[in-house]
Amino acid sequence: MDSIHVTGGQPLFGSIPIAGAKNACLTLMPATLLTDEPLTLTNTPRLSDIRTMTSLLQSLGVSVSSQDDGQTQVLHSAAITNHKADYEIVRKMRASILVLGPMLARDGHAVVSLPGGCAIGARPVDLHLQGLEALGAELDLRDGYIHAKAPGGLKGGTFEFPVVSVGATENILMAATLAKGTTVLKNAAREPEIVDLADCLRAMGAQIDGAGTSTITIEGVERLHGASHPVVIDRIELGTYMLAPAFTGGEVELLGGRLDLVEAFAAKLDEAGVSVETTPNGLKVCRKNGRVSAVNITTAPHPGFPTDLQAQMMALLCTADGVSVLEERIFENRFMHAPELMRMGAQIEVHGGSATVTGVDRLRGAPVMATDLRASVSLILAALAAKGKTTVSRVYHLDRGYERVEEKLSACGALIERVKSDG
Ligand code: UD1
Repeated sequence: MDSIHVTGGQPLFGSIPIAGAKNACLTLMPATLLTDEPLTLTNTPRLSDIRTMTSLLQSLGVSVSSQDDGQTQVLHSAAITNHKADYEIVRKMRASILVLGPMLARDGHAVVSLPGGCAIGARPVDLHLQGLEALGAELDLRDGYIHAKAPGGLKGGTFEFPVVSVGATENILMAATLAKGTTVLKNAAREPEIVDLADCLRAMGAQIDGAGTSTITIEGVERLHGASHPVVIDRIELGTYMLAPAFTGGEVELLGGRLDLVEAFAAKLDEAGVSVETTPNGLKVCRKNGRVSAVNITTAPHPGFPTDLQAQMMALLCTADGVSVLEERIFENRFMHAPELMRMGAQIEVHGGSATVTGVDRLRGAPVMATDLRASVSLILAALAAKGKTTVSRVYHLDRGYERVEEKLSACGALIERVKSDG
């Protein structure tokens, strides 16, 4: 297994290009199952999660071809030749559940394994299932699989999500585009990835109003057609690299960065003493003074502070001046990076869903282990500013969500390298 070696202490100067959003791409790709015409996605990120989704779609009969060094994907689902999403692929990635709504909407039947994914809490799929039932789906859970049917086709309905769910909103939104009649989704997720999906579905001929607000209305249509759609930039990758100069000092420009995608996060950076400025090419970030200040963070659905930036922000606050309290409200068990940061000298106390971080002057390099996708990058950020050398092992988590991380950071002066291993 590969590991990443970082020698801390270099200020970062330069620019980092931000890739297309992994989470947007993982819902745009299954949208191809809604039409027999080709769907072209541009600005797709080159990540192992995207390759997993490609394999899953191929197993359902979708042809996938790549152009522009992997940044353009042409997906064509002339016919769904297999309606079963197998456990062997689905277990690798929770977003695999997103093939359920489209397959059911197009052909009236689908069998999808219950998913796996990052080990951050229970993460059930009950909301996906309840939403599909509200559109008339008949579901049966047996042998670890969801067996779904809609013999006369899906029918529009009203569904209010009891809890905001990004994935369930995406699944039901896709399914509703081909349902008969009107669907109203209440308490829907408002993430930019939902807006991006709705834009793509509209380009395919869907009738959708209200994406980006908590009520989405979908007027079902007979069929969708092919389209070409650019994937929105990855606001989590953007936020992660916005933090890099906050850790190390220096000044970094994030190419393609958009403030409107990271407002709550940028407000917290400002409070911590980090300046974020809009430039013609993106965003420029640097520390206002020497040490950042402690801030309190509570994660929430968009437009709140994103849970996917909590680990990285916690790592920054480990060396802030003062005591910070972080509340994790989206996932239980999402502080697995805390013990690893403590190996580097951080002072953190975790009590259930909240963590208290007392800032220390400087972290020290240590051997640490990545436990999930965002935790792994938080350790790399911490290592950039730590004294001495840090080795981050189990970096396959990192490769699920960050493209060429060591190249992007070393281009700005970081001492970081990947050490390949055959094991
Ligand atoms: C998506 C993102 C993930 C991000 C998360 C929250 C993708 C591929 N992943 O995950 O990076 O961390 O949004 O911003 O886009 N829940 C249920 N029942 C369900 C579904 C969800 O109880 O059927 C709960 C979850 O356990 C969690 C909360 O709802 O506590 C939010 O989860 P959700 O928004 O669905 O996350 P994902 O779509 O899986």
